[in-house]
Order: sequence, then C-alpha cells, then structure tokens
Amino acid sequence: MSKNSDRGFWDSAQKHLIRYGGAFEPAIIERAAGSFVYDADDKPILDFTSGQMSALLGHSHPRIVATVSRQVAQVAHLFSGMLSRPVVELAERLAALAPGLDRVLLLSTGAESNEAAIRMAKLVTGKHEIVAFSKSWHGMTGVAASATYSAGRKGYGPAAVGSLAIPAPNSFRPRFRNADGSLDWQTELDDAFDLVDSQSTGSLAAFVAEPILSSGGILELPQGYLAALQKKCRERGMLLILDEAQTGIGRTGTMFAFQRDGVTPDILTLSKTIGAGLPLSAVMTTAEIEEEAHDRGFLFYTTHVSDPLPAAVGLAVLDVVEEEKLVERARDMGTKLFDGLSRLKQRYECVGDVRGRGLLLGVEIVKDRKDRIPDHQLGAAIAAEAFRRGLSMNIVKLPGMGGVFRIAPPLTISDEELELGLKIIAEAIEAGLAANTSRPGIAAE
Ligand SMILES: Cc1ncc(COP(=O)(O)O)c(C=O)c1O
Repeated sequence: MSKNSDRGFWDSAQKHLIRYGGAFEPAIIERAAGSFVYDADDKPILDFTSGQMSALLGHSHPRIVATVSRQVAQVAHLFSGMLSRPVVELAERLAALAPGLDRVLLLSTGAESNEAAIRMAKLVTGKHEIVAFSKSWHGMTGVAASATYSAGRKGYGPAAVGSLAIPAPNSFRPRFRNADGSLDWQTELDDAFDLVDSQSTGSLAAFVAEPILSSGGILELPQGYLAALQKKCRERGMLLILDEAQTGIGRTGTMFAFQRDGVTPDILTLSKTIGAGLPLSAVMTTAEIEEEAHDRGFLFYTTHVSDPLPAAVGLAVLDVVEEEKLVERARDMGTKLFDGLSRLKQRYECVGDVRGRGLLLGVEIVKDRKDRIPDHQLGAAIAAEAFRRGLSMNIVKLPGMGGVFRIAPPLTISDEELELGLKIIAEAIEAGLAANTSRPGIAAE
C-alpha cells in the first residue's frame, strides 16, 4: 500500500488543520530538491509551479541551504530598530537593479509588502481611494485583500472604504474590440477610468497592479497598457504601485516585468521570487516619496522588518540569478515551453489559449475554441491526471473563464524536465478527454 495513504496522517490533518482554501493534494510530501518534490513513496513529482510560484531556483538550492545554515548561526533576527549588513547590502543591490527606486523596506510576505505600499501611498498623497483590477490578487490581509478581486470578497464584511476596481484587460475574451477582433484596450481603459472618476469622492491615492495577473488567469497587460495606466494615474495625482510578487526577479525574461514596458512605478513590491521559497518581501520607492513619507511620520514597524536571515537569502538569490544567467534562461526556456504548449494547442481543441511571458505561462481549457466556452470540469480532470502521473500544475478557476493552468517552473529547470512536463500534460489531456468521450477533443491538424 502507498505510504501516501497513511490513515493516521490524514485523520490527524482532518482533525487538527484549519482548511484555508481549496483541497489538499492527495500526497504526503517528504522532501524536495531541484525541480521535484518527493512524496511518501519517494515518487518524484515535477513542480511546475515552483511551490507557490516562489521557488525560483528550484527546491533546496545548495546556495540557499548554505546561506540559511550560515546566517542562522550568525544572526537571524534582531530588534526591529537594529540594522545588519545583509539588510543594507540587499537594499543597495535591489536599488541598483531598479534605477529610480532607491529606497527599500524589507518585510516577509506579499500581502505585507502591499499593505506597506498602500499605506505609504495614502500617507504621501493624503488620499485614501485605491483602484485595482477586477481579477487581481494582492494578498489576504486588510487593504491588500480589499484590493483583491479575483477571490475571497464575500462574507468578511466591508472592504476598505474607497476600494474601486476596473476590468482587467483580457486579450482572449476582449470586452472592447478593434476592427480586426483584437482587444481594444485603450478604449477599455478610457471607459474604466470614466467610471472610476464618477465613483471617486476626489480622494484617489493609488492604482495597484500586477503586470501579469496571475491568480486572475495569466492575463498579461498588453504592450503599451502600463504606460497608458501610468498616464491615467499621473493625470489624477495617483501613485502607481506595481506588485511583482510573481513576475519579479527574472521570471518573465526581464529582471522586472515593468522593464519590458519602460515604465517605472512609483512603488514596487516584490515577494515570492525574491526569497525563492523563504518568506522575504520588499517595498521599493523613490527617494522623493520616501522622504515625504518619513516627514509625515511613516510607520510600518513589524516584528520581522529588516531581519538579517531572509535578507541574506535575498542576496544569495540575486547572486545565483546573476551567476547562472537565469533572466536570460527564463526567456529561452520560456520560449521552448511556449512552443511546446502551442503544439498542444494545435493538437487538442480543448486547449483554448496559451499565453504569458518567460516562465510564467497560462493554458486555458475550454469546451470549444471557437466560442471560448470555459471547461472547469475538464481542467480539473487534467490537473488530477497530471498529478497522478507526477506533474504538479496549479489550476485557477474563475467565473467566466475556463480552467487556467498556471505554469511557472523554477528558472533552473532543465530541457529534459521541461520535455517531461510537456509529455505528462499531453498524456493528462488524453486521459481527461477519454474520461469524457462525448467531447470532440483532437483538433483537425
Ligand atoms: C501578485 C501577488 N501579490 C501578492 C500575493 C500575496 O502574497 P502572500 O501570499 O505572500 O501574502 C500573491 C500571492 O499569491 C500574489 O500572487
């Protein structure tokens, strides 16, 4: 019998864990290394989501293991008013990577970084309204949750006063179309801001955006959109906050996703990838905004702010990304993965769309490609078949969209591992379709 069926483990999990969303995978994970996690039978499972989109260097990268061991013995945590070398060094390194964003605050989680960014935006503008995308995810706490529209809004009482949303541009299902049928995002953006202006009480503080909405189903802001959004913000005296939790540190083929667009935000938040699986996040902003915030008494005093252990990990992550040329690698491997997934799209009618950038890609499962009718059931079946075959892929299920696989392997993934993942996806699609024989399935080639 499989050791994953350990009754004691699952009974205890059921008895003692608070369920926090979704179902648990049907395996007990004992260890992880590189691109794989290993279950209780020591079966390798290819991790196509880098843990929770974080393990940028794969699992248990020797440099991270060595850094944690060294730093935990030297100094891990300090009184929040004390500084250590890794903190100042990491701030300096990050500032050098994002010219103009010279000031850095080091925290632990993505939600926390967005809390701090929004708090700072409110303080320096003296306003309180925060606009975000309708399919955003910025975290599960306070104002970050108030700016999260893709899930979790119902049942928790009022969101922060002044929370406003605009539609996330969706090239696969355009709301406004150009003559050739493509997304007319400029008209959509103009229309959305007309609505923002009519709802606003005159207190617009900031727009918070992901360059690629990940939990929203891998919706990439079209080229030019970010610059147009920044213009809308400037016209209204709002700050632009970019949340690069998933896109930062090379994943999309540039160090930060905003660099493709040549748009530097007023405030940048980093998390997930900067700690490569350990809890580290950062808020970055201009010297001017930081001075203003400080003059107005900016307070974000937390237990783990400026802790040396995660800062040392962040430095090791940047070193490895540089030494192993992982930004370029994300671009090259991303192209290979995109091509492989596009071949699956040619082959299977149920693969409605392949999108994304670098090693942050999405595959949307639909009932038929012409009408783009979502197929959550088939998506869930494919994900389960893939897991059974040793591939972990995350699927997002959103109203109005099909099941979307989010594919974000470690940037260190090898060619063989990538091919293995593509092979398992194809097998899982075949198995998912076979379970539902009424479906046409294979596209005309
Ligand atoms: C874009 C983005 N921002 C913020 C968060 C929240 O980060 P955390 O879960 O570390 O609080 C997430 C988490 O998925 C995210 O995808």
